Amino acid sequence: MIKDIINKKENRLELTKEEIEYVINNYVNDSILDEDMTLFLNAITNNGMTIEETYNLTIAMLNSGDKIDLSSIEGIKVDKHSTGGIGDKTTFVVLPLAASLGVKIAKMSGRGLGYTGGTIDKLESIPGFKTTITNEEFIKEVNDINMALVSQTENLVPADKKIYALRDVTGNVESIPLIASSIMSKKLASGSDKIVLDVKVGKGAFMKSIDDARNLARIMVDIGNKHGKETIAILTNMDYPLGNAVGNSLEVIDAIKTLEGKGNKNFTNLCIILASYMVSIARSISIEDAIDLVKQNLYNGKGLEKFREFVKYQGGDLSKIETCKCVEIYSDKSGYLTDIDTMKLAELVRDLGAGRKNKEDTIDHAVGVEIFKHINDKVEVNDLLLKVYTSKEINESDYSNLFTISNNKREEEKIVLGIIK
Ligand code: URA
Repeated sequence: MIKDIINKKENRLELTKEEIEYVINNYVNDSILDEDMTLFLNAITNNGMTIEETYNLTIAMLNSGDKIDLSSIEGIKVDKHSTGGIGDKTTFVVLPLAASLGVKIAKMSGRGLGYTGGTIDKLESIPGFKTTITNEEFIKEVNDINMALVSQTENLVPADKKIYALRDVTGNVESIPLIASSIMSKKLASGSDKIVLDVKVGKGAFMKSIDDARNLARIMVDIGNKHGKETIAILTNMDYPLGNAVGNSLEVIDAIKTLEGKGNKNFTNLCIILASYMVSIARSISIEDAIDLVKQNLYNGKGLEKFREFVKYQGGDLSKIETCKCVEIYSDKSGYLTDIDTMKLAELVRDLGAGRKNKEDTIDHAVGVEIFKHINDKVEVNDLLLKVYTSKEINESDYSNLFTISNNKREEEKIVLGIIK
């Protein structure tokens, strides 16, 4: 049976719901072996899937494990997901802003297998912070303070855990139907009513081209809507690191600065847009009205207050957050900053210990970089470019070489590249 299904997909024929369910159920219960599943995944990567097939794949994966029941939380529950970027700590800014405006957010996040830590790793840089709490505590927290953010439960979409591990070692990560079903099965299992997706595009993202990002966003939005959950995707620029820091505790500190109204301009604008879409769909108000409300709560400190309340509720003590000692990297040129080698920066930060190469690697929460110059900033000789937080010996030129400094400014890049509803 599995051989026939693989053949069918290799010949670009559309698979039925039953065939897709057969593969997922039998892979999860170990009746289909990795060798055959690899051929099946290869056939999807090479030949793609129709929207109908991708939807059926998502639902078969969703049905492989627990579905979180949020019905005892009153009001519209909105989830948010980012496809991942370098220095992406939007969750820590966006969630408290939206929660401070009455949006109910019961969010589950993962750890990072990419270059830098995931949301849960970043939260664990806050001493005392509990990323695992009981289901009852999770629900009570959202009822009490409008938001909670915890680690994904063990049995949330087990099919994704098994398939993702195989995709990772068989070159099947960058397939649009496989990414869409992986993300959306987890979002649907997490139980929220509506979903805002931040689909990253650019040098530091899975999706390097706007067309691929738009395709991925379109499919994910269609899956969410077809399942009865209003879903909006925002295509956002990921050519350069987000905000002023990359690394776990440094990103928490950067998020706090942003909530104080002192963050990087592009990153602040990105957070305002994402939070505003959450508020707009939760309260059924226009995006313009939502932006006004979000800006108010950013600049009057209510977002920051909500973040502090949330960290305290889950046992964290922000006064105890630690960073390593640092090495300062200065410019030896003057001009305008016109490029940052984002992927190389991500690799360097991972190698400092901020991310994992293998699943079992441990993370050093206190290491990373702080960025002092961004695209089109004027740079003078001896201006500070970076602080590298590490106790390891580093080769400083590895870091100064990340920056291209030219005589003229480059074209401004937009942070929001499109909205898909
Ligand atoms: N994030 C996921 O959860 N799955 C993917 O396949 C890619 C990004």
